[in-house]
Amino acid sequence: MEPNIAVYPGTFDPITNGHLDIVDRALNLFDKVIIALAKNPGKEPIFSLQERIKMIQDCYPNLNSRVEVEPINGLLVDYAYERKAKAIVRGLRAVSDFDFEFQLALMNRKLEREVDTIFLMAGFRWIYISSSIIKDAARHGGNVDDLVPPHVSEMLKKRFATI
Ligand code: COA
Repeated sequence: MEPNIAVYPGTFDPITNGHLDIVDRALNLFDKVIIALAKNPGKEPIFSLQERIKMIQDCYPNLNSRVEVEPINGLLVDYAYERKAKAIVRGLRAVSDFDFEFQLALMNRKLEREVDTIFLMAGFRWIYISSSIIKDAARHGGNVDDLVPPHVSEMLKKRFATI
């Protein structure tokens, strides 16, 4: 039987505990989760694509066949279709996420009817965090150790020490 695959797309600049929580939840529902680093035209990441890939791989030291990390070019739905993914997974934190996510999901459905989007609710502890707010805190010397994996916290400290 074909494995049930989900694609979890995002910019992941950087990956946070909230994203990892969504991956864990998706792994309860799917055989495999592909974390796809996609381009958001509205964002200029502080970490390079290679840095973000490595940072995510390091979250899964025993990277087994159930989690994959891949950069994607082009349309997300084309990638999902090629990889025979059953669904695109997105995390919802608050009502404020809904408008954008609704638009994205409907556009993706218009582009490719075979791939559905499913929304998973982020854990309550992560409801208020985003990559931007974490970067902003870290940029000003704030402690974000509880919000990102230890190696990501180190990378943030190093990055902002040199800016
Ligand atoms: N916990 C913590 N933070 C979370 C979260 C969670 N569970 N879920 C989302 N977020 C945050 C992210 O950190 C991010 O914060 P930021 O804006 O401060 O960086 C924000 O919510 C949403 O970003 P993210 O999940 O990284 O997605 P995105 O908006 O950058 O991604 C793409 C959009 C990449 C999926 C979209 O642009 C895309 O599909 N691009 C590919 C090209 C394509 O197909 N375009 C047509 C789309 S219709």
